[in-house]
Amino acid sequence: MHFLVTAGPTREPIDPVRFLSNRSSGKMGYALAEAALAAGHTVTLVSGPVALTAPEGLTFVPVETAQEMYDAVATRIHDAGVAIFCAAVADYRVASIAEEKIKKSADELTLRLVQNPDILGSARSVFGFGGLLVGFAAETNDLARHALDKLRRKKCDLIVANDVSRRDIAFDCDFNEVSLFFADGTREDLPFLTKHEIAAALIGRIVALAPQERQ
Ligand code: C5P
Repeated sequence: MHFLVTAGPTREPIDPVRFLSNRSSGKMGYALAEAALAAGHTVTLVSGPVALTAPEGLTFVPVETAQEMYDAVATRIHDAGVAIFCAAVADYRVASIAEEKIKKSADELTLRLVQNPDILGSARSVFGFGGLLVGFAAETNDLARHALDKLRRKKCDLIVANDVSRRDIAFDCDFNEVSLFFADGTREDLPFLTKHEIAAALIGRIVALAPQERQ
């Protein structure tokens, strides 16, 4: 099967030298891409800027902004049978990027932000993707409620949810503890594991969901 995986943060420029971003390391997405490759699948990895080296043997599409990630996914998702959206996409970008470096002058500086496109939310409704759709949910409260809401609104087959209020898991570390929410209403809680172990478990669960002829 062909997997499309998004990974890492996006970078939203403020001026030629500054940007807005987040703490995503890309480790979970890269681990998923590696696990899919190791299981014999074809992989396209669309990645924001991270300090990791792209695994050999996949199609690597580096991007910076959410809009670039959106465009990269829009043009490639139709080749995939499975799309896993693991990237921590910035919800907002700066409304107008300064052409020159912003100088320090007034005591206060206001940046106006506008919403970025929701890539996962566009998969079914805009791109018309009919394959297996997997999203991630990073929540600080009411994990199950938010994950189930995302599952239904974005028409996913699976939401992988983690509690980002915990310092020992998720953002910028090698471990995670995730709960899986499936479209049929079932929930599975995986134990505290390395991101590589979680990735292998997830690829197994996802392949099991795929129709036989697509495997
Ligand atoms: O940020 P949030 O927790 O809502 O992200 C949920 C899911 O949506 C993740 O899988 C993320 O990769 C995806 N997402 C996206 N485009 C956005 C925001 C989030 O694909 N603009």
